[in-house]
Amino acid sequence: MKQKKEAIKSKNPVTRRSFIAATAGIGSLSLSSKLSLAEILKSNNNPLNVDQLHGWGEAPGVAGIGYNENPFGPSPRALRAINEAVMDVNRYDFGAYTKLEKAVGEHLGLTREKVDVVPGREDFAPSGYPVYVEGGSGFILNQIVMNYGIKWNSSNPTGEIMEIDPGYGGVSRAAISLRDLMGAEVKIRRVPATTDLKHDLKAMLGAITNKTTLIVITNPNNPTGTILSYDEIKHFVDAVPKNIMILIDEAYIHFVREENYQTAVKLAQEHKNVIVTRTFSKMYGMAGLRVGYAVGDPLIMKELRTLGNSLGVGSINCYAAIAALKDEAYVRHVNRLTNASKDYFYEELDNLDLNYIPSHSSFVLVDVKQNGGVLARKLRAKNIKVRAYGNEIIENYVRFTIGTLDEMQAMVGVLSREIKG
Ligand SMILES: Cc1ncc(COP(=O)(O)O)c(C=O)c1O
Repeated sequence: MKQKKEAIKSKNPVTRRSFIAATAGIGSLSLSSKLSLAEILKSNNNPLNVDQLHGWGEAPGVAGIGYNENPFGPSPRALRAINEAVMDVNRYDFGAYTKLEKAVGEHLGLTREKVDVVPGREDFAPSGYPVYVEGGSGFILNQIVMNYGIKWNSSNPTGEIMEIDPGYGGVSRAAISLRDLMGAEVKIRRVPATTDLKHDLKAMLGAITNKTTLIVITNPNNPTGTILSYDEIKHFVDAVPKNIMILIDEAYIHFVREENYQTAVKLAQEHKNVIVTRTFSKMYGMAGLRVGYAVGDPLIMKELRTLGNSLGVGSINCYAAIAALKDEAYVRHVNRLTNASKDYFYEELDNLDLNYIPSHSSFVLVDVKQNGGVLARKLRAKNIKVRAYGNEIIENYVRFTIGTLDEMQAMVGVLSREIKG
């Protein structure tokens, strides 16, 4: 903390002002009523260099904008919960996991089934909500592949899994590992995105065969940042045969900029073959804690829970996640800061004459007019962590996670030198 305070002190006045405005009293960004943070940055002609950066949870002198982490850290309420829970870790906390399921159920307004509680065994009673919590949503994706992506009911396990290209690919990677490890016959269909890099739902429907077991919709999609509307997803779900599981991965849903945007959670409640997954790693800034959850049909959730480990999420992580869910002001705060950094970046990309995919997420995919992998390596050599994909469709693109204003400013300085040569 001391180091962080010193780093703040050493910053130039405008950046310091924007930092104070950004962090003073969560939910109150008084300066922004007169001047947006993006405007403040634009007027700042003395930005930090990369070696002056000191980001939350990142080594000094590094712009941590490669892994879609939240650069602003967790909610102060989550940090307080972590502090409070830390002294009790010598005990099993059998109830923590269920409390988190309940908090998720209440947060999403889900219907609770009545549960029988044995007196004296309250800590062991299920929450009654159609929710499943695990150590990161990535792990839940793997479990969904294991359970619904592959049919194990013969000596020759088979499956056919469909995912957008370019997409996150977590489900495809899990399927490939299982295919190699267990000898399962799993086919992976990567369906190319539309020209504006959205899910091509028509092509995905057309690619369904009588062997298809699992379809993934990542919404917003990673790495493109594009979204589908609720109605588009609903029509798709209605058209897919009911024996096929549909996984809707909403890891980045909190960043969607459209007003009144509707999530697919309702579809997961209405359809037995729809599961929605979410994570505390992105908006809630707790990637290192490893907490994610799934919502869906109560029986499907029970199956996943049976395969999982009811004590697989530590008590500290559970209490931090519960506190984070309750801190709605923090979500608004992170969105305000993310959007300010993103709008600043968009303007600078326009100045550099670089095209980008308008993003509904915490990252932006940029057409860098050269091999993305080569540029990403050059940026990484200058301590700017970014991601490129060895993918034909986006060969000339680099994905930039939206960082703090300081990180974005420092990165833009380096990027413009690389682009202009
Ligand atoms: C689309 C998407 N889904 C799932 C995950 C996994 O997140 P976690 O395992 O941290 O919950 C990620 C991580 O980057 C992601 O981008």
